Amino acid sequence: MSPARTLPLDVSKLRTEFPVLSRAMRGKRLAYLDSGATSLKPRSVLEAERAYYEQLSSNIHRGVYEFSERATILYDEARTKAAGLINAAAAREVIFTRGTTESINLVGYSWGRKFLKPGDEILTSEFEHHSNIVVWQEVAKATGAVLRFFPLLPHAEGLDPEQLETAFSERTRIVAITGMSNVTGYKPPLRRIAELAHERGAVVLVDGAQMACHEPVDVQALDIDFLAFSAHKMCGPTGIGVLYGRESLLEAMDPFLYGGDMIERVWKDRSTYAQLPEKFEAGTPHIAGAIGFGAACDFVQGVGLEAIAAHERELLDYCLARTRARDDITVYGGINTDDRGGIFSFNFADVHAHDVGMILDSHGVAVRAGFHCAQPLMRVFGVAGTTRASFYMYTDRSDIDALFDGLDAVRKIFL
Ligand SMILES: Cc1ncc(COP(=O)(O)O)c(C=O)c1O
Repeated sequence: MSPARTLPLDVSKLRTEFPVLSRAMRGKRLAYLDSGATSLKPRSVLEAERAYYEQLSSNIHRGVYEFSERATILYDEARTKAAGLINAAAAREVIFTRGTTESINLVGYSWGRKFLKPGDEILTSEFEHHSNIVVWQEVAKATGAVLRFFPLLPHAEGLDPEQLETAFSERTRIVAITGMSNVTGYKPPLRRIAELAHERGAVVLVDGAQMACHEPVDVQALDIDFLAFSAHKMCGPTGIGVLYGRESLLEAMDPFLYGGDMIERVWKDRSTYAQLPEKFEAGTPHIAGAIGFGAACDFVQGVGLEAIAAHERELLDYCLARTRARDDITVYGGINTDDRGGIFSFNFADVHAHDVGMILDSHGVAVRAGFHCAQPLMRVFGVAGTTRASFYMYTDRSDIDALFDGLDAVRKIFL
């Protein structure tokens, strides 16, 4: 059951939907501040997956019996729900993948390797998760294309707006850009980037791993060509995600994986391929995952993505306000929360981020410590890693208070 849409969120009611929040960690109330890594799962998602295995267990598309037909309907409905979540023009523009990483790889192989020529440019940023850099390094190696980076503001609060346009050249063919940094929560101006790219005939791929789960996303209004995101960061199961692609681009691309389900006709020496979206979904898909994902789409939309975004901004403001009273915390990403999502990355005095994380753990506070799959950005900041607290709809002020109490304990031990 989706909770009713409310603004502001009724967080204490919402929290009862997430069974794991009733568990203690290290004997303490759990303060789960690692939703940037993966979100918690509400009961409706757990039940949807379980119901498929318990009541319908069967493969989809090729069964000629009731359970298979019903599982197929649920699988297809999940695609329609995912398409609705991002306002795709058609459900066939939504390809189920294993997640953001696979979605970006799919574009790298099926679009990049086919369409990029030596000297063409791939424009990206130092804000990217490794999955949106390493893929393009490999595509550049294979095609002779060149990887270029948007210039950043002096303290890496964001892309430099003055140099946004000049980062493009006549050879820019694709912009591969995050929708929200998993390190600082920074949100690049996607609409403007898409405008600049399209004026030059380039396409735009947005890594939406941190975006699609935390704010309303409309691929048509943003006018972006590809969007990659993962179900597990938006209350859904692990091992399933989406590549949204503009239909004309997906049609022009070759399949990514070959085998069953993605074919139309197979002869001994050649094959023809299925229409979208099956063309990109070889083999038995993650059926339970897709069904759980469908339930997750219902859940986040029931809560309301605008309300979630507003709630997280309020938490970030609270967090930053608490930080201002102290001289032992360095915050990364600046203090302007207008273009930021609910992610708080920091270092505590000169204590190593892993030590901070371990002491917080002993206080029941779950955070992430390290380079967050973003080593180029760590180099920009001149640090080996940071401690990251990341929020979601179920995060409340007492989670943040627990974080700061934990930091007081770090202070007592190390300073
Ligand atoms: C911004 C960003 N991009 C990509 C990914 C990779 O997502 P996944 O591991 O679900 O493929 C993550 C995961 O943390 C992320 O935060």
